[in-house]
Amino acid sequence: MDLMQKIVSLCKRRGFIFPSSEIYGGVAGLWDLGPLGSLIKNNIKEFWLKRFVLEEDNIVLIDGTVLMHPKVWEASGHIESFTDPLMECKKCHLRFRADHLIAGRFIGEGKAKEKNQCPGCGAKEFTEPRMFNLMFKTFLGPAEDKTNLTYLRPETAQSMFTNFRNVLSSSRLKLPFGIAQIGRSFRNEITLGDFTFRAREFDLAEIEFFVKPGEDEKWFDYWLDQWEKFYLDLGIKKKNLRKFEHPKESLAHYSKRTVDIEYKFPFGWGELAGIANRTDYDLKRHSEFSGQDLSYFDEDSPAGGKEKYFPYVIEPTMGIERAMLALLVDAYQEIKGGRTKTTESTKEMEVLLNLDKKIAPIKVAVLPLVRNKPELVKKAKEVYQLLKPYFSCQYDEIGSIGRRYRRMDEIGVPFALTIDFESLKQDDLTIRERDTMKQERVKISICLKKLLSKMV
Ligand code: GAP
Repeated sequence: MDLMQKIVSLCKRRGFIFPSSEIYGGVAGLWDLGPLGSLIKNNIKEFWLKRFVLEEDNIVLIDGTVLMHPKVWEASGHIESFTDPLMECKKCHLRFRADHLIAGRFIGEGKAKEKNQCPGCGAKEFTEPRMFNLMFKTFLGPAEDKTNLTYLRPETAQSMFTNFRNVLSSSRLKLPFGIAQIGRSFRNEITLGDFTFRAREFDLAEIEFFVKPGEDEKWFDYWLDQWEKFYLDLGIKKKNLRKFEHPKESLAHYSKRTVDIEYKFPFGWGELAGIANRTDYDLKRHSEFSGQDLSYFDEDSPAGGKEKYFPYVIEPTMGIERAMLALLVDAYQEIKGGRTKTTESTKEMEVLLNLDKKIAPIKVAVLPLVRNKPELVKKAKEVYQLLKPYFSCQYDEIGSIGRRYRRMDEIGVPFALTIDFESLKQDDLTIRERDTMKQERVKISICLKKLLSKMV
């Protein structure tokens, strides 16, 4: 099994990620998060919110709708330009992204042995590429006609532009300032695969940072550093990150400059996040299409308060599920024979997920040494109740203590608390640290304080 298959299997087995609608055979590109995956995702979003909204003075959060006025997508250029080239196999009618087929992405998949070969049937004849729009269509109201046609948003950015004036007039913000948003986005991707890397539905976390024209390049560099730092602070290893400067030909229709932050996935380097200089494109286009003036009146301008202009926009953006996949890959470790040399464990491969404490879905495991001693179980349950309001905790009494440590290591629990016979006499417990396996005896009366200090 390669690393990616092992991660897919762990995710299913332990409840991180499941295929959507699996009982009906699943749907390509759609994934549900299980109990542990949902907690990880929430932890990433909370950390993002804390870092980029709560700890900042000049960035505010909004929560816009997925469905918007259809004119938004005309103005944004998505109807015209949010497309990928699509080709169809003349024999089996499978469809592919032409650029992926030409680049040899499918080599080794199914019947594709070389570039330009269909993985479905091995044929080498395809239709001419045609541009395929990635936005999902839907209708507002009961009549399914052209006037009611709209789209599921492929990015959250647009409601931050359409609310530019609302945010300005309801807050006291002045340039430079940002509007931030995390939300569901939808793309009808043609090529899928690589687990959750390329999905049809995912969460984006984006900031539209409005700056004075001329100051955009300086702010671009600032956000590139901040974005990379975010991944490092999530615990991702620096050696597995790199930056990719887009050449002019691959820039999105709105961008003057884009740099991607890439991660070294088991299937190769892949985009984790991006920083784009969207210039004044979006505010100008929405002004033009809506007839509303979205320019900025600069009261502090050296020209004496009379300067009006369209701000430039620096857009740092990231996919939350991609961050989660990178975190899982980065944290996954196998230790042949296990870390403890008991006869039982040396036969097996031990899996350790050394997720950062703030990302770990369960922070504390509470384990009575054995389950057939009511006094131990009672004490362990009391500790569990004591800690539950402060951390996500799991109580586990099934199996040997060694097995239970393993189960907790495998899902990345940073601290395991054991209540043993000594605990009954001393009113204490041991705290075992996941990465070092170091154990420390601590009085139950101070274990909450101790854990709170270890958690930062
Ligand atoms: N508003 C700018 C924008 O949407 P993008 O590069 O198209 O830019 C931003 O997407 C981020 O969204 C990417 O860096 C990636 O993390 C994530 N992303 C894009 N397409 C995705 C997909 N099909 N599945 C999962 N994540 C995706």
